[in-house]
Amino acid sequence: MTLRISIAAFCIENETVNVVETLRNQRQYSRCEIISQEGSIGAARNFLAENETPNLLIIETDLVGNPLFEELESLASVFDPNSRLMLIGQENDIQLYRQLIDMGISEYLYGPINEDQLKNSINELYADPEAIDLGRVIACVGARGGAGSSTVAANLAYTLGQQYLNEVILVDLDLCFGTAALALNLQQRQSISDALAQPNRLDDVLIERFMLKYNEYLSVVAAPTVLGSDYEIPLDAFDIFLELVRKMSPFIVLDVPHQWSPWVSEILLDANEVLVTAYPDLANLRDAQAIFERLMEKRNVDEPTRLVLNRVGMAKGSEVGPKDFEGATKVEPTLNIPFDPKLFSVALNNGQSVAEVSKRAKSTKLFSELATIVSGKMKAKQQRSGQGLINFMKSKK
Ligand SMILES: Nc1ncnc2c1ncn2[C@@H]1O[C@H](COP(=O)(O)OP(=O)(O)O)[C@@H](O)[C@H]1O
Ligand SMILES: [Mg+2]
Repeated sequence: MTLRISIAAFCIENETVNVVETLRNQRQYSRCEIISQEGSIGAARNFLAENETPNLLIIETDLVGNPLFEELESLASVFDPNSRLMLIGQENDIQLYRQLIDMGISEYLYGPINEDQLKNSINELYADPEAIDLGRVIACVGARGGAGSSTVAANLAYTLGQQYLNEVILVDLDLCFGTAALALNLQQRQSISDALAQPNRLDDVLIERFMLKYNEYLSVVAAPTVLGSDYEIPLDAFDIFLELVRKMSPFIVLDVPHQWSPWVSEILLDANEVLVTAYPDLANLRDAQAIFERLMEKRNVDEPTRLVLNRVGMAKGSEVGPKDFEGATKVEPTLNIPFDPKLFSVALNNGQSVAEVSKRAKSTKLFSELATIVSGKMKAKQQRSGQGLINFMKSKK
């Protein structure tokens, strides 16, 4: 997910300034305020005397031994202890590393550093336990209206809850024509638009009031059923809202409307997972391709964008095959959900998930597979490499 911190870097080498500058072009850091300039501890001290300490201060130094410690001491008087300091130095010495960490320095890197080392170190610093506790955001969007994206969102949300015995919040972001509450036969009290209209009043208690409970695990934040005159929702409202719900539940499934407004694209770019649901025809193929082009370019590489083909077999003979979709979107479809009008219409009429209608249906099994795939619980924790002196030395052996 996108990091929101301020970073100021004071570097001796032009190269290091350039490495810091590369952060600007990356989605993950696009919300960071980044200042980078030439200089070292002295320049940082002057900066801090006049400015608030950034969340992360990066300093490159060529000092060693006592002079280094003296300079660092003098920085301490202006450094806000809630911030973090990353030092890039000249000595590859484990003793020094320990001493610096003891002093409260968050990270020491042995220069020159490259882009990956810097990114890994920052990610490590800010991927603290609190961040790990944040819910996983899975955004579902249709290549075209009617492809079945809301159906996928609701069934996925239900299945995630059952499979992991964990809370799931399904958020209907189709602000005008949302169907999530209807599909699960829930009587809506207040809609998400009411909540989003006044983002500064939002908190978890208020959001709880908007949530409809489907079962022990699944709650739904519904969309309005009445068309409002204007839904002028401030852009940052979605940010604030998502930040809150991510603290409330380990899984957040978003039913995102098929439109390309600024807030929709922000949500799709930021989500941990995006599921694009398409019906296998030419119009969907073209639109899926456009969506993938936009998203793949900007989304973080470790946050997948997946393609789900749905209603497969509805018009046999005239449908476009998975290979063609793969050619257009550059991703292999994750799933092919068959056209099963009986099952899906019974589910819709009952206000249930397909799993509750039929445990043995092929689609039920597929939603279970999909839940496993997007849960983020499959892959072992990613090994990070290259950051920190200790790791650096290990990798040199
Ligand atoms: N695999 C399927 N087989 C049969 N009907 C389906 C299937 N998937 C979705 N539907 C039906 O298609 C209709 C449109 O689905 P919906 O999820 O509302 O589409 P979207 O949100 O993409 O506009 C709904 O009536 C739904 O029950
Ligand atoms: Mg929909």
